[in-house]
Amino acid sequence: MSAIKCIGILTSGGDAPGMNAAIRAVTRAAIYNGLDVKAIYRGYKGLITGEIKQFKTQNVSNIIQQGGTILKTARCQEFMTVEGRQLAYDTLQREKIDALVTIGGDGTLSGARIFATEHDYPIVGIPGTIDNDLFGTDTTIGYDTALNTIMDAVDKIRDTATSHERLFFIEVMGRDAGFLALNGAIASGAEAAIIPEIATEVDQLGELIKNGFRKSKNSSIVLVAESPTTGGAMALAERVKNEFPQYDVRVTILGHIQRGGSPTANDRILASRMGAAAIDALLEEQRNVMIGIRNDQIEYVPFNKAIKNDKPINRDLLNTLRILST
Ligand code: F6P
Repeated sequence: MSAIKCIGILTSGGDAPGMNAAIRAVTRAAIYNGLDVKAIYRGYKGLITGEIKQFKTQNVSNIIQQGGTILKTARCQEFMTVEGRQLAYDTLQREKIDALVTIGGDGTLSGARIFATEHDYPIVGIPGTIDNDLFGTDTTIGYDTALNTIMDAVDKIRDTATSHERLFFIEVMGRDAGFLALNGAIASGAEAAIIPEIATEVDQLGELIKNGFRKSKNSSIVLVAESPTTGGAMALAERVKNEFPQYDVRVTILGHIQRGGSPTANDRILASRMGAAAIDALLEEQRNVMIGIRNDQIEYVPFNKAIKNDKPINRDLLNTLRILST
């Protein structure tokens, strides 16, 4: 018999489509296993202030298809302090919550790791971020939906790029990770992806762009990952304008549109599997692990590994993009 009778659930950091599907899965799997569920609002902030509500199965009805998170989310500075985390622990004791499931990205899991160690408290993490930058899982919840949003946006931009014979730099999210830019470029047939993992010089970029203009079409699209390393789309466009004045250059920053929308089937399935697996993990007395899915298999990934920031980009994909854009 597990000592866990009641679990808390929260979403934290940047929202991601599919978080609601994960909340639903965690809640329903917990109730199925005879556990009480307490929903914590506004991430770690709600843990500190005690914004908590008991969830029954109907509280998560009709949310699998909704983007965002019904629990709200926040980036909580106070949780980064020892005092803030003590207040959070006091809330958990008061509410008789025996374990936590946290859904979020790198920052959420880092917070969970510190808290779990400091207070010897069981936490299981679910990777929810459009960035896909957590090690130990093939994809994170929200990534597939964001990729599809990028693809749809680039398809539209291509219409105007072709009509005006322009060169577009399109900046996508990813906070220092190139997954969205690289796979977004492949999915939308772009000429190049500029990602923080691989240095690209302006003259190299010139070559790639020329490839686009050499083809039957007279336009070109380059996806740029937001990052100090790439410099972002604006800075890159300025440099290209200076060195290649023959191109009519435009910039589009897709921004937060990438974080919204109804989750794709892949994200709903991923979130549902991960949510149910989080409850299994807690019942098996796992703690301080993130649920990953690799090669279709559930894996328990220690927080330390998941957040080490070294999830590798598949470099073969860069080659594929290069070949297909020549
Ligand atoms: O981590 C998710 C993410 O969308 C990143 O891609 C982006 O850099 C960041 O969040 C933006 O955060 P905010 O919405 O707080 O500006």
